Amino acid sequence: MTSHGSTDPVVVAIDGPAGSGKSSVAKGVARVLGLVYLDSGAMYRALTWAVLDQGIDLDDLQSVSEVADRVGPTLAWSTDPDQPTTLIGDLDVSTAIRQAPVTSAVSHVAAVPRVREVLVDCQRRAVSEAQQAGQGIVVEGRDIGSIVLPNADVKIWLIADPLVRAARRAAEDVAAGRTVTTDVEAVAADLARRDTADATRAVSPTTRPVDAFEVDASHLTLQEVIALVANIVSTHTSAQSTQSHVDGVSP
Ligand code: DC
Repeated sequence: MTSHGSTDPVVVAIDGPAGSGKSSVAKGVARVLGLVYLDSGAMYRALTWAVLDQGIDLDDLQSVSEVADRVGPTLAWSTDPDQPTTLIGDLDVSTAIRQAPVTSAVSHVAAVPRVREVLVDCQRRAVSEAQQAGQGIVVEGRDIGSIVLPNADVKIWLIADPLVRAARRAAEDVAAGRTVTTDVEAVAADLARRDTADATRAVSPTTRPVDAFEVDASHLTLQEVIALVANIVSTHTSAQSTQSHVDGVSP
């Protein structure tokens, strides 16, 4: 899409806390608008998988940083919203990175400055590759609109009530066979732990970009959120100079 006045394809940043539905929304918006899709969290998960696979102590910052330098350049990904995959070299780690050991450890690894430097480079490279190929892109994460792509055309800050997020995440985990438990309160406690860790770390804490549109998904279906965000993107990119506000959403 090049209708927003510049010649570059559109870049959309979707950030928000764990379990707010970012992945489903970002993929859905990419499909609706014919854009590609990048899951930055999958990159943090892939490096975490490598750290665990090599038996490295999470508190050993030097060794974790060395993994980032060694493994970061071998990371590869598909930006197809229908089949997002993450690879380390030739090894497809897309399923392994969703398992509990990685989920428990990823906040520690994502707080390591060198890890963030290496992965922010990968994320910016993915975006410029998409743009060079004439493709607009939706990138989801925690610091995309604030740090990684501060010039993104549209920034969305996606939130949802903590118990709604926990119920959705529990249902997703059961559906994917990652767990048999539906203990929503335990899931809520884990999401709260990760939110606090991600929002209070020294480097690039999760923060709402000042110029983001805030979308509260608590009482909307997934399809409604996708339609709302796609509408914000279309409206904002086709009339950037005349409209800075979409009814029902706070910019
Ligand atoms: O979205 P997710 O749950 O797959 O993210 C995994 C972890 O990576 C989470 O703890 C936050 C972190 N992350 C980050 O620090 N910055 C990003 N841009 C994306 C994810």
